[in-house]
Amino acid sequence: MRPAPLMAHAAVAGLALLSLLYAHVGHVGGAAATLSQGQSLGANDALVSANGAFTLAFFAPRGGDPSRRYLGVMYAQAAEQTVPWVANRDAPLSAASGDYSAAVTASGELQVLEGERVVWRTNTSSLLGNVTLTILDNGNLMLSAGGAQEVLIWQSFDHPADTFLPGMSIALDRRNGIPVNRTLFTSWRSPIDPGPGNFTLGLDPFGSAQLYIWRSQGGENTTYWRSGQWANTNFVGIPWRSLYVYGFKLNGDPSQSNGVMSYTFNTYNSSLYRFMLHPNGTETCYMLLGTGDWKTVWSQPTIPCQTYNMCGANAECAAGDNGQAICSCLKGFEPRSAAEYSSGNWTQGCVRSAPLTCETKVSGGDGFADLPGVKLPNFATWESTVGDADACKQSCFANCSCGAYSYSTGTGCLTWGQELVDIYQFPNGGGYDLHIKVPASLLGSTTKRWTTIVIIVVIVVVVVFGACGLLLCKCRRRIKEKLGIVGRKKTTPPSLLLGMEAWQDFSGPKQPDQEEGEDGKKCELPLFAFEILAAATGDFSSANKLGEGGFGHVYKGRLPSGEEIAVKRLSQSSGQGLEEFKNEVILIAKLQHRNLVRLLGFCIQGEEKILVYEYMANTSLDAFLFDPARRGLLDWKTRFHIIEGIARGLLYLHRDSRLRVVHRDLKASNILLDRDMNPKISDFGMARIFGGDQNQVNTNRVVGTLGYMSPEYAMEGLFSVRSDVYSFGILILEIISGQKNSSFHHMEGSLNIVGYAWQLWNADKGEQLIDPSIRGTCSAREALRCVHMALLCVQNHACDRPDIPYVVLALGSDSSVLPMPRPPTFTLQCTSSDGEGLFIREKADESYSASDLTVTVLQSR
Ligand SMILES: *[C@@H]1O[C@H](CO)[C@@H](O)[C@H](O)[C@H]1NC(C)=O
Ligand SMILES: *[C@@H]1O[C@H](CO)[C@@H](O)[C@H](O)[C@H]1NC(C)=O
Repeated sequence: MRPAPLMAHAAVAGLALLSLLYAHVGHVGGAAATLSQGQSLGANDALVSANGAFTLAFFAPRGGDPSRRYLGVMYAQAAEQTVPWVANRDAPLSAASGDYSAAVTASGELQVLEGERVVWRTNTSSLLGNVTLTILDNGNLMLSAGGAQEVLIWQSFDHPADTFLPGMSIALDRRNGIPVNRTLFTSWRSPIDPGPGNFTLGLDPFGSAQLYIWRSQGGENTTYWRSGQWANTNFVGIPWRSLYVYGFKLNGDPSQSNGVMSYTFNTYNSSLYRFMLHPNGTETCYMLLGTGDWKTVWSQPTIPCQTYNMCGANAECAAGDNGQAICSCLKGFEPRSAAEYSSGNWTQGCVRSAPLTCETKVSGGDGFADLPGVKLPNFATWESTVGDADACKQSCFANCSCGAYSYSTGTGCLTWGQELVDIYQFPNGGGYDLHIKVPASLLGSTTKRWTTIVIIVVIVVVVVFGACGLLLCKCRRRIKEKLGIVGRKKTTPPSLLLGMEAWQDFSGPKQPDQEEGEDGKKCELPLFAFEILAAATGDFSSANKLGEGGFGHVYKGRLPSGEEIAVKRLSQSSGQGLEEFKNEVILIAKLQHRNLVRLLGFCIQGEEKILVYEYMANTSLDAFLFDPARRGLLDWKTRFHIIEGIARGLLYLHRDSRLRVVHRDLKASNILLDRDMNPKISDFGMARIFGGDQNQVNTNRVVGTLGYMSPEYAMEGLFSVRSDVYSFGILILEIISGQKNSSFHHMEGSLNIVGYAWQLWNADKGEQLIDPSIRGTCSAREALRCVHMALLCVQNHACDRPDIPYVVLALGSDSSVLPMPRPPTFTLQCTSSDGEGLFIREKADESYSASDLTVTVLQSR
């Protein structure tokens, strides 16, 4: 007997139909997402997931034979038919009869029927009864029993077709020590034929934790592609940003030979991303846009070099201008057959041109030739106990069968035997560094070694500096170009951006290998999709707000990977344009120091400009310093540590970063504190956003915070590194006293903290400045020295103030004698009737009474 048809004639398309569906199935438990035992899904019926993202229905592949019908899961909101899962892949139904359906049997099975004939079945059974089929919000089709009990009988996620969806896992089962791929993805035979094709994707059964694509040809299975080793947040061979952003994750321990190892990924909205294995063997990650179109996030292999072992052993593959493979032997190797190799037959690869001396015991020794920026070769051994680059090198050096090593924080120490297989040279410096063992004689002879070393060092220095300069220019220009185009695109609908790859959208036609076209590591900065950041911060909810300032609000967020982030959403009213935003991004991307907050990425979308920073567990200095309840938590040791840290951060900004960044808005709320109370300067680069041209020393717009601004800057818009020194002086005084500079003019009849400190210090009563909550326990000598330094920093004339290198040096030694400070600004302001000075003060009292707000004073000239 045939089960009764489901009373739903559903929405294969169209909202009207959809509402009809809901109306009709009301009596079937109100859930159009569920097919119950005894019901059937007819040719024109559909199940729709509760969130409306997925449907289960019969379909004919787009562009294919319309007489062949399949049961499949489809994206409801995609503009073009998109089928992540098919039931009867190699048993199509005939459209002509129209007599086909899907049904859930009482015995606990899902069947696809043509007439009475079972065409496809789940081969399951359950004694529990009350069996239902449900399409879930993530596209999973679940067969369960027991009604409310919901015992899972079967799910489509365990039997994937060609698509990897959020919530699925790619698992390798190694129970009993025998590795079995639990999930294998098989491509369609062709874009119009869902039948199993030639390509399969799964995990390397040998436990390397790599994804593999195999190709079957004439009954033979060969490796077609591999992802490269897992490097903590990414695969060595895949641009990392995309995977990182949507929380791609390795579960289980690859170093064990037992247990399950799997990859999963999670997104906030599981209907947005999919990985698909195309019939031609290419794996592509797509993102669903609001328009219903699919955007390619990344795709591999797209050029010959990305396919497995293109060049044979001990060779590297670099892509030519048209994406064609250019093979060359690694340093210390030569073609096994020169004739074949030069004729383009690379299968035999390369062999050592001279044996390693550790093998032949010939004197001279071995060394390492560096091969930077590659997809590391296959068959690595992970030296799990080796913790740094030097030890890794030693471990390879000491082992004669070790042919190469690589060390990075993501991968740890990897070593290889003598055959190096499948090395791809990333364009423009992406990838990882490989060190290949070669006889030292090939690296330069011993007699000439010293001169060689000197020459090499000189050359390296010249090249590095040249390259850095070039890279800097190129990088800046590139980003400018790219963002520039975004700017011009302002009126087009906002597109979703994800990962650096998204930049290709703005750089014209896609180059063969663009998704890896990073402009060197220094420029690698993820571009986050606005949706990701909105979801990470609960739609920028006020509950997640960490702070606000003149530049915009800062929110706490959590990425799908679980990582906490701080998201600065620049206010649209702040007036700064794309140009300036670009500058900051370029700038900050280059600045890395342990006393600076790390920028993780950014987002530009329509009017939205957002920066993503690492999250700081202890928020900011002002939250401690100016809170009477928490002030005591900062003992003197911590405070001194913070002062020193800020000084080092400034030293880097002013001198060591080569860019000579003047912060221009140094204040307690811009000093963030990490878990261990290490200070990190934030908002550097913001000055440039609000300050206009970085080369101008005399600006029309003054950026900064009243009370922290040096007199020449506040009044005349003149800034230099010494204006930062002034602000730093104020900060020291605040850290020591625990008092806000701005709150001081109400106290002790003095104008501000500077005046107060100056008076006390001059009267030999400097100790009174020290915060009472630490006065008893701190080193008065150290604290007074800091006060002395602060007073030097806040001197009226910029040229009287010390520079930061001096400050760092003097803070670090307690023996050097500090010069006597000249009277600071306040005395001048006190006695001066200078109009400009008064103007500033009035302004401070009127409009900026909460004067720790960042202000932008427009100079009238
Ligand atoms: C998730 O995606 C679906 C389908 O595109 C959409 O309707 C829904 O609003 C999205 N939800 C969130 C939280 O973004
Ligand atoms: C020597 O190096 C090879 C290749 O990396 C590795 O397989 C082997 O375990 C190493 N031997 C020792 C004793 O560490």
